[in-house]
Amino acid sequence: MIELNYRNIKEEIIGCENGLDIEREFDNYKDAIHKIIADLNSNKDKPGQKLRWMNLGYNEETIWYVKEYAALVENRFENLLILGMGGSSLGGKAVCEALLPTYWNFLTKEQRNNYPRIFFLDNIDPDQMNSLLNILDLKKTLVNVVTKSGSTAEVMAQFMILKDRMEKELGEDYRKNIIATTDKNIGILKQLSDQEGYKTFYIPDDVGGRFSVFSAVGLLPFALLGIDIQEITQGIKDMDLALKNTDIHCNIAAQNALIHFLMDVKKGKNISVMMPYSYRLRYVADWYCQLWAESLGKEKDKNNNIVNTGQTPVKAIGVTDQHSQIQLYNEGPSDKIINFLRVKEYDTTLDIPNIFEYTGISYLGGKTINQLFNAEADSTMASLIDYKRPSVTITVPKITPYYMGQLLYMFEIQTAITGALYNIDAFDQPGVEQSKNYTYALMGRVGYEDSAHEVNSKLQDSVKM
Ligand code: PA5
Repeated sequence: MIELNYRNIKEEIIGCENGLDIEREFDNYKDAIHKIIADLNSNKDKPGQKLRWMNLGYNEETIWYVKEYAALVENRFENLLILGMGGSSLGGKAVCEALLPTYWNFLTKEQRNNYPRIFFLDNIDPDQMNSLLNILDLKKTLVNVVTKSGSTAEVMAQFMILKDRMEKELGEDYRKNIIATTDKNIGILKQLSDQEGYKTFYIPDDVGGRFSVFSAVGLLPFALLGIDIQEITQGIKDMDLALKNTDIHCNIAAQNALIHFLMDVKKGKNISVMMPYSYRLRYVADWYCQLWAESLGKEKDKNNNIVNTGQTPVKAIGVTDQHSQIQLYNEGPSDKIINFLRVKEYDTTLDIPNIFEYTGISYLGGKTINQLFNAEADSTMASLIDYKRPSVTITVPKITPYYMGQLLYMFEIQTAITGALYNIDAFDQPGVEQSKNYTYALMGRVGYEDSAHEVNSKLQDSVKM
C-alpha cells in the first residue's frame, strides 16, 4: 500500500513552535475523525451529498462501456484530443502522464502499440490552439469534449472551432470523430450530443469536476490509451477499504488531513507544497493543487460564518525546484508544510559511468542516478529539519495503474476529511462560478445582462482588452 510518514512534523524533531504533539492530537481528534469517516461512508449514496465519487471504483457499468467503446475504435485514431477545463482534464492528464511512457507523443505508432497520441487542451490561448490545430490531422483525431455542466464557455468555444473545422474537412463523417462526456440530464452539450448523435458518456450525479477522474472523464481516455483501468479500480477499492477504518491510527488519509488542518490553524502553515520526486508524477501535483484549493478555499463555513479557510497549494518538482524554491522553503516565512511524494522503485535504473577522476565528481561514478535522486530528496528533507520546517512523505511503491488508483483516491478522501475538519462544504465552488458568470456576461450570453452591467462597472478603470 501507499505509505505516509509524518515523523518530520513532530515536536521532538522540529521543535514546539512548528511541530505537533501528534500522538496527543490523534487522541484529541479520535472521536471527531471517527464520526467524519463514518458519516462520509454512510452518506455517500445519499442524493445531494456530493459524495458519489466514493463509488466510482465500483462502477462496473462505466468500466464496461468505456472498454467496449475503446475496443470498437481500436487502431482507428492517431490522436486523442481532450477538450476540458479544471476537473475535466487535470486528473486525466495526471494519470496519463504517470502511466504512459514519458514523451509518449514522440513515439512512433508501433512503439505506441497503435494507441493514439494524447493532447489535453485545457486553455484557450489562441496561439496555442492554432499551433495544435496546425499539427493535428483531424481525420485521424478523436475529439472528446468533456464538461460536466455542458456549458463552460472555454470548452464550448474550443468545441465550436473544432466541430466547424472537422465538418469542413471530414464531411458528414465528422460525427464519428467526436465524443462527449457530460451530465446525463442537464447542459447544452447533452442536448447537442443527442441532436448530433455523438457517442456520449455520462458523469454521474453528485460527482464534482475535481472528484471525477475515476468516472468516464478519466476512465475513457485511459482505456483508449491502453491503460489497465481494472488495475486502477482495484487500487481504488483496496484504498477505499483501508480508509473506511475510522481509527485515525490506521487511516493515512485521516492522518494527513488532520496534520494539514492543525498545521494551518495552530502553526500558521497556510501553504501546502506538493513535491513529487518523479517527473512522471508532476501533473499529480497540479491535480492536487486544484483539489486542495477549490475544495478547501471557502469564504463561509457550514454555519454561514465568514471563515476564509484553505491552505494555498503549491507545486514543486524534485529535483528541479530544489534549485528554485527550496531556498524560500528553508529560510523564508515559516508558513509551509511540504508533502514529499516519493517512489520506492522506479521502472529504470541508470548507472552513472566511472569516467572521470576529478575528485569533485568521481564519487558519482559507479553509482546510479536513482541513488542520486534519492539522496537529493533525503538531503532536502534533512535541510528542512535543520530549519525546523514540517514535512510529510507519501511513498508510492511503484508507478503503476494500481498505485495511481490508490494515490488519487487517498488524496480525495484526505480532502473530504479536511473539509469536514474546517466545517466547510468541500464540494462546491462558488468562487469559480462567480467568474464563470462574469465571463458569460462579458461575452453577451442571454440572461446575464445584469451581471454584464455589474462587471463592466467594476472593471471601468482596469485594463481591459
Ligand atoms: O472541479 C470543478 O468543479 C471545476 O474545476 C470544473 O471541473 C471546471 O470548472 C470545468 O467545469 P465543467 O466540467 O462543468 O466544464
